Amino acid sequence: MKIFVDTANIEDIRKAYELGIVDGVTTNPTLMSKESGKSPQDIVMSIVDLVQGPVSVEVIGKTAEEMSKEARKWFAMNPDYIVIKIPMCSEGLKAMRILSEEGIPCNCTLIFSVNQGLLAAKVGAQYVSPFIGRIDDTGHDGMQLVEDLVDCLDYYEYDTEVIAASVRHPLHVTQAAQAGAHIATIPLSVIEKMIYHPLTEKGIQQFDNDWEKFIKASK
Ligand code: E4P
Repeated sequence: MKIFVDTANIEDIRKAYELGIVDGVTTNPTLMSKESGKSPQDIVMSIVDLVQGPVSVEVIGKTAEEMSKEARKWFAMNPDYIVIKIPMCSEGLKAMRILSEEGIPCNCTLIFSVNQGLLAAKVGAQYVSPFIGRIDDTGHDGMQLVEDLVDCLDYYEYDTEVIAASVRHPLHVTQAAQAGAHIATIPLSVIEKMIYHPLTEKGIQQFDNDWEKFIKASK
């Protein structure tokens, strides 16, 4: 499973990148708004320069025409790595059909049902992003959607990749992997929790202590 970092914060991305585990990045308007003081273009270009992998940037237009226009501008900034995030809606579907035919990769965001995912795949979206945590928040099982979507797209042999999004804790990542998600997009705070295990810490401490005793005794 590929790992994307779900943030627009370059320092968080750098920390994850230095671990050697980053395949790409997803941003959204809310995440971008946390980076005030820099232009959206500068934020995106510094992420692309660092990661050299797919970086999703969301459009805010409301019509297919507006979305496509914005998408082309973003894509022109780096056709190798920029992916256009389009929200699921009728105009979004139209835009994704147009953009896919132009060879511009799209990530259909705010997916909350298998039907939405199927429609996005049908118009050529390269990625679909079901929002696990936000579904869990409503008292339903977000991971079931990931599982169902992966099965469905696989059955019909779509190339569309499922990005498990709105990841809130390490168990989401494990379950997304078990469900066969192609990608999980994860905030740095969750990545850090994935690394940690108390028994690993205890084990390191014990090995250090025993080694120290052994060296002292062998002098
Ligand atoms: C995905 O691409 C979104 O940026 C993100 O996962 C949304 O997560 P949230 O529900 O924590 O805002």
